[in-house]
Amino acid sequence: MIEEAPVAVPPVGDHAAADRLEVLAVPGLPEFAEGQDLAAAIAEGAPWLRDGDVVVVTSKVVSKVEGRIVDVPADPAGREAARRELVFAEARRVVASFRSSLITQNRLGIVQAASGVDNSNIALDKIALLPEDPDGSAARLRAALHELSGVTVGVVITDTMGRAWRVGQTDAAIGSAGIGVLHRYHGGVDSYGNELSVTAVAVADEIAAAADLVKGKLGAMPVAVVRGLAAQDDGSTAADLLRPVEEDLFRLGTDEAVAQGRREAVLLRRSIREFDDRPVDPAVVRRAIGIALTAPAPHHTRPVRFVWLRDRRRRDTLLEAMREKWVRDLLADGRDEAWARRRTRRGDLLFRAPELVLPFMVPDGAHDYPDERRSAAEHTMFTVAGGAAVQGLLVALAAEDVGSCWVSSTMFCADLVREELDLPADWHPLGAVAVGHPVAGPQPPREPRDPASGLVEL
Ligand SMILES: Cc1cc2nc3c(=O)[nH]c(=O)nc-3n(C[C@H](O)[C@H](O)[C@H](O)COP(=O)(O)O)c2cc1C
Repeated sequence: MIEEAPVAVPPVGDHAAADRLEVLAVPGLPEFAEGQDLAAAIAEGAPWLRDGDVVVVTSKVVSKVEGRIVDVPADPAGREAARRELVFAEARRVVASFRSSLITQNRLGIVQAASGVDNSNIALDKIALLPEDPDGSAARLRAALHELSGVTVGVVITDTMGRAWRVGQTDAAIGSAGIGVLHRYHGGVDSYGNELSVTAVAVADEIAAAADLVKGKLGAMPVAVVRGLAAQDDGSTAADLLRPVEEDLFRLGTDEAVAQGRREAVLLRRSIREFDDRPVDPAVVRRAIGIALTAPAPHHTRPVRFVWLRDRRRRDTLLEAMREKWVRDLLADGRDEAWARRRTRRGDLLFRAPELVLPFMVPDGAHDYPDERRSAAEHTMFTVAGGAAVQGLLVALAAEDVGSCWVSSTMFCADLVREELDLPADWHPLGAVAVGHPVAGPQPPREPRDPASGLVEL
């Protein structure tokens, strides 16, 4: 039995080997097949193994002995189709696709090309999947080597991976046992006196890459031994090298992220009625209005104007006048004053909102018709174009994490609004848009509605 690994964090020293590092080939290993004893083969091929060595094993042979090899058609097209199917079956999610490459996060949580599904160094009618539990495989191999050879070694199981910003691949650790996979320099100080606060060296990946320089890809050399490292066992395993997705700045490929943003933009909008105290960046408002003004409009007209009421006093004066008008309307309906005051409180969000934007429809360029029917249609056409622009404004704001609520009030007191703001008689108010940062924080996109709830297909 190998003693339980100490979990204590070692003091900050250097991860470098004290003097020199050796990478030793383990030649003469057989072609592995399911059920074969990998540990026995290594113990036999490397009788010189000693305590502190790190045995580095290509995952392919672990897959072979663990029966993770799948039979596929031998013809290239059939094999490729089977490979793609396996890539998706092994994937938890697609991170990016680029030309014929598919980068996924696989079942193990590893982000790499093709979910680690591989057709190299294997018969033409077979494809290798990664081991089911590479850390477990490494631990079992380590224990077996201890049993067979009486040595306490580290084990690293490797796979070959690309790097997002670098051309070419290197080997990385996908399974390990008996070594600290990460050497954290937090709290350490270099010889110049600089504190190393963020450096954490992925020692297990460096071991994997170093061993690849001896194992190679063509020489049927699946195992090498790294000797001379002081990689202490801290109980960590290769799984600890997986960056949690919530800390991953690059959790999607650029094209995928852009596509997701496009798909979700409209779904980010919702009516926000409670805002926090943070001011809204005026540049965001201007940008959103610029976007809104690109809305479709009839016969090349510009039927929308946005009045951004930045003067607080003017805004309050307008809103108070609107409220009094609303109360008068309700009293005229036969409501009592207390009820009317309560009812008009619904408009308070316009007082509270950090910013207020009033959209207007202007019939600039509208066609004149001699009859009522067509004149009304023209008016409707311009009004709906205004609605399209307002929705554009709300979506553009939401896409920048700024909330909004489109309320109707100005439409119900159009003359008063024009009078208070000194606007031309043909500016038709299209409501008011309260703008601010949602008190509940940035809102996730919501689910689309069932199309059947509003779709008639004829
Ligand atoms: C033309 C129009 C007028 C609206 N008027 C008001 C209003 O006066 N007060 C209000 O709180 N919300 C108003 N809303 C917002 C709706 O109540 C809101 O869109 C609805 O509750 C659905 O919620 P959602 O926007 O979050 O999807 C208005 C929306 C539109 C399009």
